[in-house]
Amino acid sequence: MSGPDCGPRHVAIIMDGNGRWAQARGRPRLFGHHAGARRVREVVECCPALGVKYLTIFAFSTENWKRTQVEVAGLMSLFRRYISKEMKALAAKNVRVRFIGDRVRLDAKLINLMDALERETAENDGTHLTIALNYGSRDEVARAIRRLAQDVADGRLDPADVDEETLPRYLDTHVLPDPDLVIRTSGEARISNFLLWQSAYAEYEFIDTLWPDFTAEELAALCQSYGRRDRRFGAVKP
Ligand code: FPP
Repeated sequence: MSGPDCGPRHVAIIMDGNGRWAQARGRPRLFGHHAGARRVREVVECCPALGVKYLTIFAFSTENWKRTQVEVAGLMSLFRRYISKEMKALAAKNVRVRFIGDRVRLDAKLINLMDALERETAENDGTHLTIALNYGSRDEVARAIRRLAQDVADGRLDPADVDEETLPRYLDTHVLPDPDLVIRTSGEARISNFLLWQSAYAEYEFIDTLWPDFTAEELAALCQSYGRRDRRFGAVKP
């Protein structure tokens, strides 16, 4: 922990409720996703003041392909637009962007933009923004085990040396610390295949706000409340 008043150093967010937000306004779901994308900027910008060094956001899950073709295509187009539009601002604000998730199902144009944004911000050392895109924790663990098994097969890794420090080195998040605080908006209290291994000891906040209504003030309040929690990691206080 390093933030002001011992706030969370790594916050991970399941940005839920865009569809309901749009529906309440009689608009199509994509209208909600566009409003949600605008929230991302405000939240990224408030991180330095809150001492949040790592921010990880769930933009598209391995299960989200089950949505209508219109919604999936609209989201992919939104991600392309977001990256093109925000690239300069993120680079100028010293944000380092990374993507986690499996890129195989993503189109070449989007992958190129993701690569460009990662490259463009690679030297930045301010907020580390990680965007989970076509991400699912079970898929990530399966891909990690595939690579680990290959290392065993090739004689680079002895199975006797595999312990709980080994698998994280193969995860998409291998360069990130574990999340301290996981927030889910929109009143749903589930984690939907998000950072399952990494969040073993995270604190959770399930809040009713729909993602397009989420504000920097609300994040500040959640960080403050995190600072008052007693994290014991399975131990007892002397
Ligand atoms: C969940 O709300 C939201 C998503 C599946 C997409 C998240 C995407 C964004 C916030 C947009 C932009 C992100 C970036 C990085 C540019 P939902 O559609 O499941 O809402 P519902 O539960 O109300 O239907």
